[in-house]
Amino acid sequence: MKNDPLILGIDTSCDETAAAVVQGMRVLSNVISSQVELHRKYGGVVPSVARREHELRIDPVIREALRNASKVLKTKVDFNDLDAIAVTYGPGLAIALEIGIAKAKELALQHDKPLIGVNHMEGHLYSPLALNSKGKGPIEMENVEFPVLSFLLSGGHTELVLLKSHDDKRIIGQTVDDAIGEAFDKVARMLGLGYPGGKVLSDMALKGDPEAFKLPVPMAKDPTLNMSFSGLKTAVYYQVKEIEKQRQLTAQEVVDMSSSFERVAINELQIKLKKAIKLHNPKMIMVGGGVSSSARVRAGLRKVAHEFSLPIYFPSLKNIYTDNGAMIAIAANFKFHKKEFSDQTLDRQPNLDLAI
Ligand code: KG4
Ligand code: ZN
Repeated sequence: MKNDPLILGIDTSCDETAAAVVQGMRVLSNVISSQVELHRKYGGVVPSVARREHELRIDPVIREALRNASKVLKTKVDFNDLDAIAVTYGPGLAIALEIGIAKAKELALQHDKPLIGVNHMEGHLYSPLALNSKGKGPIEMENVEFPVLSFLLSGGHTELVLLKSHDDKRIIGQTVDDAIGEAFDKVARMLGLGYPGGKVLSDMALKGDPEAFKLPVPMAKDPTLNMSFSGLKTAVYYQVKEIEKQRQLTAQEVVDMSSSFERVAINELQIKLKKAIKLHNPKMIMVGGGVSSSARVRAGLRKVAHEFSLPIYFPSLKNIYTDNGAMIAIAANFKFHKKEFSDQTLDRQPNLDLAI
């Protein structure tokens, strides 16, 4: 473990300024400075505001990541001790990505370190492999068995990815409209739960009746592995509007609608996961992305995995579900070992795909 590379990971793809230090798959520090309060009053992420905040926060966040890693290793970790500097170069908000990339390039040049450009979704994909500071986690990299089926559930993407090896990743299904996190956030807003409401909605859902409102399961009969969340969101919209013609929704109706929406969204995920398993016979399932921090989402996917007697792995560390630098540094390990380094021409790719 001592010989594993020490990697600084930086992510400024959206509204979190994040930096972390990992040693191999072991997370030594994971600092996230969230801008959510700033964007809340606009009801969404304002790219120019995000950029300015990343500029202000990036240096202190990186310094804190090094400081926290030093505490864990009980020896000072400085830039010179790093084996590489990794940074998200896409997908994400163009002008936000630029800040992290510029900082990573500057540090790589200044300290003569290899630079590694990482795909943000690859970070989410590998987040279940993150080990805690003591080196413990749900699965060790050596025990990964291919094919792996990865389910990515984030605010911008919803993807089923088949990995035949670490070098062979194929998107086998994805949303045709809204990403699942986006749908959670939009429905939360309709229910007056604020922004970003995905987490509030799923917390509320725990107290509600999932059968209270009848909502259609989107794409239930669709033969592909693609998903859709926009129709479900619209169905919620019309039911809410119908009630609001007469009166405000009661507090109980808000929790019941949250619960009903989440149940159907999970159902959609379960149907497609089952289909993907039957078609591709994976040896294990890995799940990542912000929406998988919902306990019900995890339980729903675990149920399917158990039906097929398949192991299923989720991120096991607290700050590794939603955007963070540790997952970027974790994913960078693979490129580090292959010596797939970037140079000073590394540029943002806001629409970067995980694979074809
Ligand atoms: O993966 P992520 O941090 O960012 C992207 O790469 O998009 O995902 C963010 C999404 C947001 O839509 C957020 O509302 C949702 O994940 N989210 C949740 C929960 N925590 C975050 N959705 C449901 N339940 C949660 N506990
Ligand atoms: Zn993300």
